[in-house]
Amino acid sequence: MEAMVAQNGTRLLTDKFGRVHDYLRISLTDKCNLRCVYCMPAEGMHFMDNDKHLSFDEIEAVVRVAAKLGVRRLRLTGGEPLVRPNVVELIGRLGAIPGIEDIALTTNGIFLAKKAEALKEAGVTRVNISLDSLRQERFAQITRGGDVSKVLESLEASIRVGFHPVKLNVVLMNDFNQDEIDDFLRMSMERAIHVRFIEYMPIGHDDNGWRGRYLPLDSVMKRCEALGLTPEPVGEVFGNGPAEYFRLPGAKGTFGLIHPVSDHFCGNCNRLRLTADGNLKPCLFWQDEFNVRRAIGNEQALENLFFRALDAKPENHEMAKVLFGEELTHEPTVRRMSQIGG
Ligand code: 5AD
Ligand code: SF4
Repeated sequence: MEAMVAQNGTRLLTDKFGRVHDYLRISLTDKCNLRCVYCMPAEGMHFMDNDKHLSFDEIEAVVRVAAKLGVRRLRLTGGEPLVRPNVVELIGRLGAIPGIEDIALTTNGIFLAKKAEALKEAGVTRVNISLDSLRQERFAQITRGGDVSKVLESLEASIRVGFHPVKLNVVLMNDFNQDEIDDFLRMSMERAIHVRFIEYMPIGHDDNGWRGRYLPLDSVMKRCEALGLTPEPVGEVFGNGPAEYFRLPGAKGTFGLIHPVSDHFCGNCNRLRLTADGNLKPCLFWQDEFNVRRAIGNEQALENLFFRALDAKPENHEMAKVLFGEELTHEPTVRRMSQIGG
């Protein structure tokens, strides 16, 4: 494949499968104020020392090079991005980089209500809020102590300050929250939000019963059928995600299905990831990483590193093979989701 170039002659981030990368997910910290059962063990989670985090100057240097290579959209993740001090300042700095058109945030929503306005002013355009249960007791169980009313306040604040779109991320788990599919579908009818049902992925999972909890997303469509509702596929793409979106008759919002396990969407992958400790990850699922720290300060070296990461990008992630116990072609990541940022 011939390298694609921008008008100014710069080589763009096109990989050997022809996928153009214009989207960078940046994890700001692996720390989190919650301990979701599928993400972290109850105790003994080791967090990186603060001096391992890329500084704001370093993140800015990486994003400048990414933008030069065609990255237009950023998503800040964690852990929980809002536990990193001075996030608002960072957002302002990233938004000022020529070429960056859009900054999104993925958050657990506990601290969002208070910061929503400042984040909007600083340049955040859209938010994804994680919310796996609407029932306090269950929410506290899954997050190990979270308060669902805080998340719902954040949802309201997000709509009020005008983030657009506002998405909810709902990780569906067998024998845990599939009995709330109807409630989440109802939310998509009543509110102008996008409810995304996500398949539980086998990442960092040796000890958390993934296999028994994994639920394919045809269960959502079956619930629609049982309720006598016919979802209409929605053509527009909201943001840069891999979800398929549907609208129920008369609904204000939509619901989406993200099914990386049962049917991967790698053919459309447009993203690279940067971990809080400065590793570029070409793929969420595989172990390959490229440390940017030594290259910072040398623009050419940073560009080269982006292209090395791109060259290492596999055609797909093979998560389905984990379900069937088949052999994988690459080494799966040793990181947990909180150390990658989803
Ligand atoms: N499978 C699917 N989604 C996950 N998330 C965290 N761990 C997993 C997993 N194993 C979700 C979080 C958050 C997003 C970044 O990823 O709930 O919404
Ligand atoms: Fe925190 Fe998100 Fe992990 Fe839950 S899933 S512990 S909110 S990083």
